Amino acid sequence: MCGIVGYLGKNDAHPNIIAGLKKLEYRGYDSSGLAVLNGSLNIYKMSGKVEDLCNYLQSQSLCGQIGIGHTRWATHGEPNDINAHPHTTRRKDLALIHNGIIENYKELKEKLEAKGHSFDSETDSEVIVHLIEDIQDTYSCSLEKAVQMVSKKLEGAFAIIVISQQEPGKLVAAKRNSPLVIGVDDGEFFLASDKLAFPRRFKKAIFMEDNDIVTCKQNGDLILSDWTGKLKAPIIQELGDHIINDYEKGEYEHFMLKEIEEQPQVIKNCLQGRIDVNYLEPKLRGIYENEVKFLQASKMTIVACGTSWHAGIVGKYLIEKLAKLNVEVDYASEFRYRDPIINSSDIVVAISQSGETADTLAALKMAKEAGAFTYGVCNVEGSAISRMTDAGSYTCAGAEIGVASTKAFISQICVLGVMAIQLGLLKRKITREEAREYLQEISQLPGLIEKTLKSKGDIQKIAQKYFSASDFLYLGRGVNFPIALEGALKLKEISYIHAEGYAAAEMKHGPIALIDENMPVVVVANQESYKDKIFSSVKETKARKGKIISIVKESDTLISSESDDVIKVPNCSDFLAPFISVIPLQILSYYIALLRGCNVDQPRNLAKSVTVE
Ligand code: F6R
Repeated sequence: MCGIVGYLGKNDAHPNIIAGLKKLEYRGYDSSGLAVLNGSLNIYKMSGKVEDLCNYLQSQSLCGQIGIGHTRWATHGEPNDINAHPHTTRRKDLALIHNGIIENYKELKEKLEAKGHSFDSETDSEVIVHLIEDIQDTYSCSLEKAVQMVSKKLEGAFAIIVISQQEPGKLVAAKRNSPLVIGVDDGEFFLASDKLAFPRRFKKAIFMEDNDIVTCKQNGDLILSDWTGKLKAPIIQELGDHIINDYEKGEYEHFMLKEIEEQPQVIKNCLQGRIDVNYLEPKLRGIYENEVKFLQASKMTIVACGTSWHAGIVGKYLIEKLAKLNVEVDYASEFRYRDPIINSSDIVVAISQSGETADTLAALKMAKEAGAFTYGVCNVEGSAISRMTDAGSYTCAGAEIGVASTKAFISQICVLGVMAIQLGLLKRKITREEAREYLQEISQLPGLIEKTLKSKGDIQKIAQKYFSASDFLYLGRGVNFPIALEGALKLKEISYIHAEGYAAAEMKHGPIALIDENMPVVVVANQESYKDKIFSSVKETKARKGKIISIVKESDTLISSESDDVIKVPNCSDFLAPFISVIPLQILSYYIALLRGCNVDQPRNLAKSVTVE
């Protein structure tokens, strides 16, 4: 939520900042702004996309080698020019950008107002810049000292970057519970919410820890301390090249379609080094290095949100089947606020593409405090969740830019599939021969998905038929139940059509009342088990004139015979069924959203990383 960048170096800040903001737009895109320091402080901000800001700035002369920029996902105050960042005070000599939520902002604001400060915006963020000014006025201290003192007063989540006209040649940043990474390159600094925003030349980074304060100076110095002022030695990490290529849309009109089509390669990357050539041993390091924990565990709890939660349910079905381990799947937001029973012998798995979802992070903290062994299944390397867990497996999907998750989901269930096989073997619930068969099957996935993607044209025609429907129902059973949930989520988030996913047998307990001749019902039915039962759901739907769009195996004749539209996918075992069936659902949502004229990559009201509650 919200993307922030800061630049200090020998080049003009403005183009670097705009380029960074464009790459961070997936985090929020309702308004944007920047401030550049060049003797005086120049601030430009407005509602709308970064492109709008960019067009406006063309008529401005903007030089200066130090600056900050922000792209916003509104929390406090509607998206308008005033609420856009950077924020400043009446003297207009300080500029600040913020990602996060300041929970005690009201109380801080009242105190500042009593001292004579007046506020322009409705945001929680503006309070921070006033606090900095107030502390500098009171103690005549440096900007970094003021930021240090202010960070002690703030409750909630923040990543802030601040620059001052009174102290040119430096940029000060601080963070707690919101991400901030510092790119370093030969006397230049680039700070951002995500390393993806770095210019290509930046190959090294420092991942800031909670309560860190950093000062970057024009002479090339970087001073890192904790919030007590105690100096820390920065840990500089090398960045891989892949972060750069993932950002290119190439020949594709949208990131979403590019990412859907990347899925065969994503699975190859995800399986690399985790399955040996003879399919003998699944090798998730986080598991084999902690075998005793997994052997002793009586329960696994998966915490996640949204699409990652759906992946968690797929994981539950696979792990319970193969490893006979009791798996609970919880929304992280519910887990953290009820009184979950967590034992020190439990394993708590956090699944998160971004690795920074606020609720998942908080649920994980709770699990750690209760003494559980924590395991992360994250995509973004170095993210907060991946750093906090005791062990974990990266999903290796590469940067996912489309706000609707596609390739990250497939990579999550791929890791969970391997985990199920590995745990099954470890707990002796499956034989070596069975494990080998499962591993051989999962290795076939890239080819099978490649083949599934060939139905794109047919799915586009089906989208043409149904794109004006106002509601959709998705039905699935067993491991295809979470796929029905995921299909419905994909459709609603990018096309704004109301859609619901149900376990097929649940339909007759209520949702069947919705069915009439206007209701498309997507039936996810490419598995062998439950075939007859799914067929009954299809018949019940048809009897009420619902329109059936079925996802079935190539060899199917039963369900196809009663369907209005059929999407055939390659034959596969039930173990692989969810990996294959999710693909046409992603494609269907994509084309329906396109036909409805929606912004597929940046759907309204959404942001990719949900770093606020
Ligand atoms: C939907 C989607 C979201 C995320 C959810 C969790 O397409 O992307 O539902 O899955 O916000 O995000 P992560 O996985 O980053 O924790």
